[in-house]
Amino acid sequence: MSGESTYQPNNGFTKWMDTRLPLLRLAHDSFVDYPTPKNLNYWWTFGGILTFCLVTQIITGIILAMHYTPHVDHAFNSVEHIMRNVNHGWLIRYIHANGASMFFLAVYIHIFRGMYYGSYKAPREVLWILGVIIYLLMMAAAFMGYVLPWGQMSLWGATVITNLFGAIPLVGDSIATWLWGGFSVDNPTLNRFFSLHYLIPFLIFGVVILHIWALHVPGNNNPVGISVKSEQDTVPFHPYYTVKDGFALVVFMILFSYFVFFAPNVLGHADNYIPANPLVTPAHIVPEWYLLPFYAILRAVPDKLGGVIAMVGAIFILFVLPWLDTSKIRSARYRPLFKQFFLIFVVNCLVLGYLGAMPAEGVYITLARISTIYYFAHFLIILPLLGLVEKPREIPESISASILPETAASPAE
Ligand code: HEM
Repeated sequence: MSGESTYQPNNGFTKWMDTRLPLLRLAHDSFVDYPTPKNLNYWWTFGGILTFCLVTQIITGIILAMHYTPHVDHAFNSVEHIMRNVNHGWLIRYIHANGASMFFLAVYIHIFRGMYYGSYKAPREVLWILGVIIYLLMMAAAFMGYVLPWGQMSLWGATVITNLFGAIPLVGDSIATWLWGGFSVDNPTLNRFFSLHYLIPFLIFGVVILHIWALHVPGNNNPVGISVKSEQDTVPFHPYYTVKDGFALVVFMILFSYFVFFAPNVLGHADNYIPANPLVTPAHIVPEWYLLPFYAILRAVPDKLGGVIAMVGAIFILFVLPWLDTSKIRSARYRPLFKQFFLIFVVNCLVLGYLGAMPAEGVYITLARISTIYYFAHFLIILPLLGLVEKPREIPESISASILPETAASPAE
């Protein structure tokens, strides 16, 4: 971890442990005395909120798995059994189902925060790439989780997405058959999705540990994007940020509770309360809200393979973002043009999400094409050019100077 360790073992056991497996020293240096920029705002509380979401999903998921049956003849009924018979089963399921939405809400805020403040730029590229890997794993876990209740949207969503592999030339059909474990989405598919859905969150947990390790080597970025220059620029993580993160988490849990207790099904699709039926296709097959922008990109391209490439490209482009942005300045606060383009980019992502929920026809498809082109233009044209043509605003001398300009000019008594 960055800096000297300040940990002092204060009893016989902790001294003994410290010379054998210094776990307490690691925890102390990472989350108690860890020097953190003193100007972090509330957008920096989402990393902690995401950790909470991950733990919540794992705990509720393990309990659900105790009562769930991964078989096409029993899956739907086992979920109803959880809802009606298992003690507090409805609560555990609603926390898990809405928890997925809350997890994505938090991760989108976390990602856009990183984009706005240039947190992906050197020396934090690896931290960013690990984040993108987490995001990909989250999408895989969420997609497979949605299949498990074996409702209409489960079956048909899985059918649409797995069929995309069929678009790969020559080997596509063989890959789809291999993925299904048969000739369509059926019992073997449900079984392997359940197995992977259980596995992936633990993989995410592992990558999150690397993510936080990669954060603690260079240390946090901050709203002004200037590196820490002296001890004056930082405060210890505890109590300053434990309290701030804790407060933000409570506010987040109020919103989470609202969905769980007052609107537990608004984020889901009613068709998933109809048992899966391979003979009846739903009128509109739509994924969960958090995957809609990518679904819009997929359908915007008239060719199936082209659509798949665009959709995959829209996610994979995030891996190279640190090298597409040519500006030396990290924070949008000092980049007047980037700030405006960032706003347009966010609105464009929301528009893509809306279009993903609409039928792929008429004006919707035209708009989706424009939005898709803009999405890629943002990364491939706007970001590289902006760094060259934009005149940044004057950067403060240090984090401390940015917060207390007058005091920096005339030191306090
Ligand atoms: C399970 C999901 C995730 C967890 C638990 C997590 C956790 C964290 C934590 C605890 C921090 C430090 C506190 C903060 O800055 O908010 C952090 C920082 C960061 N994360 Fe994540 N993260 C996750 C997903 C992602 C994703 C998907 C990305 C990007 C694609 C990402 C990119 C970053 C970046 C760039 C930072 C540095 C922020 C800065 O100092 O400016 N993270 N993450």
